[in-house]
Amino acid sequence: MHSRIIGTGSYLPSRVLSNFDLEKIVDTTDEWIVSRSGIHERHIAADDEMTSDLALQASLRAIEAAGIAAEDIDLIIVATTSPDKMFPSTACILQDKLSIRNGGAAFDIQAVCGGFVYALNTADLYIRGGQAKTVLVVGAEVMSRMLDWTDRATCVLFGDGAGAVILQASDTPGMLAAKLHSDGRHHALLRADGNICNGVVQGDPFVRMEGQAVFKFAVTVLSRVVEEVLAETGLKGTDINWLVPHQANIRIIEATAKKLGLSLDNVVVTVAQHGNTSSASIPLALDVAVRDGRIKAGETVLLEAIGGGFTWGAVLLRW
Ligand code: UT7
Repeated sequence: MHSRIIGTGSYLPSRVLSNFDLEKIVDTTDEWIVSRSGIHERHIAADDEMTSDLALQASLRAIEAAGIAAEDIDLIIVATTSPDKMFPSTACILQDKLSIRNGGAAFDIQAVCGGFVYALNTADLYIRGGQAKTVLVVGAEVMSRMLDWTDRATCVLFGDGAGAVILQASDTPGMLAAKLHSDGRHHALLRADGNICNGVVQGDPFVRMEGQAVFKFAVTVLSRVVEEVLAETGLKGTDINWLVPHQANIRIIEATAKKLGLSLDNVVVTVAQHGNTSSASIPLALDVAVRDGRIKAGETVLLEAIGGGFTWGAVLLRW
């Protein structure tokens, strides 16, 4: 048994925060943000919008695109690093919001910006192992609540949003290869240390990042992991129709594309409009390129991401 993606959906909160808006909040400039990261604007959730609300909207669109009923979903995996609550999982809350009452399973995956490739690979293994038939895989984040709006090194980089795919059992292979990695020695380079004790946040609840160190590590390991998945299938970089990378920094994306011998015309880039939406960035970008007709049936699509931990990985698909 194989698995294939049969529908995608995404959702962005309506409030847009531009670099010019940020110039009024912290000591930064549009020129610095664009030249260092490629980001022009990002979306910010309303005060009453939770990660599960964003996930719900993206999921409803993916369910509609797939032409299935919500009740057909027998597993929900939500990749998030900004869950609604410490528990229950955002996936369980989403299952309720979708009114799914079929006794299927639901759980979250925490691999920060690497979360979506971790979740997609896990969903594929559930289907191939015969334990699920139709899986809703979501990346959803409200990163804006974890940002220190006085720290210009981080607050200009992130945004909120959600993306979802429906992965279903299939006779024809959709998932060609996947490879996940982590190296916990680097956990201090990108982190949010806060904790909750007796209902009160203790310690530093905000994202902290050693930007340059993360950048150097990302460029090295992403190039390596895309080579690994290609080697598993015998395909070459130039056989890839679309690279859909994690959208953290245009310079990291360009470096990976160059290593693969791909023109930027074959790369789906949304970082300018979305910023870094952590685990939501790949399914958001994927949905944009599916809906605007760029990604077509039969094409080869490569996803790759890196996040705090570090966690990183790549998934190669036949669309
Ligand atoms: O999604 C998970 C993975 N995360 C990533 O992949 C992020 C990886 N890192 C990056 O994308 C880049 O390192 C950044 C975009 C975060 C920063 O770019 P950089 O070229 O590495 O800049 P830098 O950190 O070396 O900072 C250069 C200068 C510093 O000033 P000095 O020390 O040279 O005087 C910073 O203080 O830029 C200053 N700076 C800023 N200036 C204006 C830092 N943040 C800002 C800012 N506006 N927002």
